[in-house]
Amino acid sequence: MPLDPGLTPTPPMGFNTWNRFAGNISERLIEETIDAMVEQGLPSLGYAYLNIDDGWMASSRDRNGRLMPDPDRFPGGIAPLVERAHASGLKLGIYSCCGYQTCMGLPASYGHEQDDAERFASWGIDYLKQDWCHVPYDEFPGKTHRQVAEILYGRISQAMSDTGHPMVLSMCNWGDGEPWLWARGIAHLWRTTPDIADRYRKTEEGGAWDLVRIFRQNSRLTAYAGVGGWNDPDMLEVGNGGMTEVEYRSHFALWCLMAAPLLIGTDLRRLSAPTRAILGNRDLIAIDQDPLGRQAEVTEEADGVFTLSKPLKEGHWALGVFNATDVLQAVNVDWTALVGPGTHRVKEVWQGGEDTVNGRSLIEVPPHATLVWRTQASAQTEALSR
Ligand code: GAL
Repeated sequence: MPLDPGLTPTPPMGFNTWNRFAGNISERLIEETIDAMVEQGLPSLGYAYLNIDDGWMASSRDRNGRLMPDPDRFPGGIAPLVERAHASGLKLGIYSCCGYQTCMGLPASYGHEQDDAERFASWGIDYLKQDWCHVPYDEFPGKTHRQVAEILYGRISQAMSDTGHPMVLSMCNWGDGEPWLWARGIAHLWRTTPDIADRYRKTEEGGAWDLVRIFRQNSRLTAYAGVGGWNDPDMLEVGNGGMTEVEYRSHFALWCLMAAPLLIGTDLRRLSAPTRAILGNRDLIAIDQDPLGRQAEVTEEADGVFTLSKPLKEGHWALGVFNATDVLQAVNVDWTALVGPGTHRVKEVWQGGEDTVNGRSLIEVPPHATLVWRTQASAQTEALSR
């Protein structure tokens, strides 16, 4: 039986420990982050999951083959954290890996798929991110990476489904074997790229990709995202310090246009006002979470300027212009081609003001910035719907 796609009618939103804390995590950090999420009002914006990434488990399984939390970092265990998250209106996610070991070298699910799914279900876990390190390809002679991934993700997916406890499955094999072609039904979201770096451009630190490169790869995969299953261009770096505010705004805006999962990756206990403003932009969140579930299409790409359009419910549209270049660009936005003929009321999501547009407009887009508009109901439609 496939996993229930009803768990992710829209892309999942929440927080994940990895981008900011890597393996340096603890029970205390999780408790403080639960409190910070609530204090920052994040659940009411839709940020529902608090996901613990690599580094939570002890260096060996117990004698019954079950994963154990690290006794120093998580002395109280995982179940009380689930309870605490639930009591705060949040859901708790956890992490494992298809191989023998996680990417940090800790015990992982190969040969223990059922043990792990049952363990997570018994703790009341809501979400599993399943990684792709230390995979024993030699045990699958003649099989391609894609075939091995289909088998191993299929196993954990089946084991999760067999528990009867609803859990989201986030597949993390970095786009290897083109998971967008086959992961729907097995998982709820699938990584489409290697890890994101906290850099706008020109980085391949330890194999991680910069923002522009991740965007270029994921934006080509429009056809594969949709209600129940999502392309995952990796978690947010917004607030971590390696990009400018303009670049972080682009990061968030592009992820929302691409209907990407929105997993905050910064320290929520020390959230700056500008970071809070980006992550809390309600218009962008509504674009990401639009029930139609469509990923924006790049309708034009010219000399590093990308135009994107995303259909929204009730015939509305979100439009974005991303200036990936290092200089100000005057961009000719063709509203007729993008939204249709006639006059449209649009709202730019960063400025907030409404405008009436018709035909074409020449719009200045600063370097590295993304401007986003969404069409507004016309006065006439509003009157009709009253
Ligand atoms: C990578 C994964 C990261 C993080 C890390 C943990 O494979 O892409 O998001 O989970 O492993 O070791």
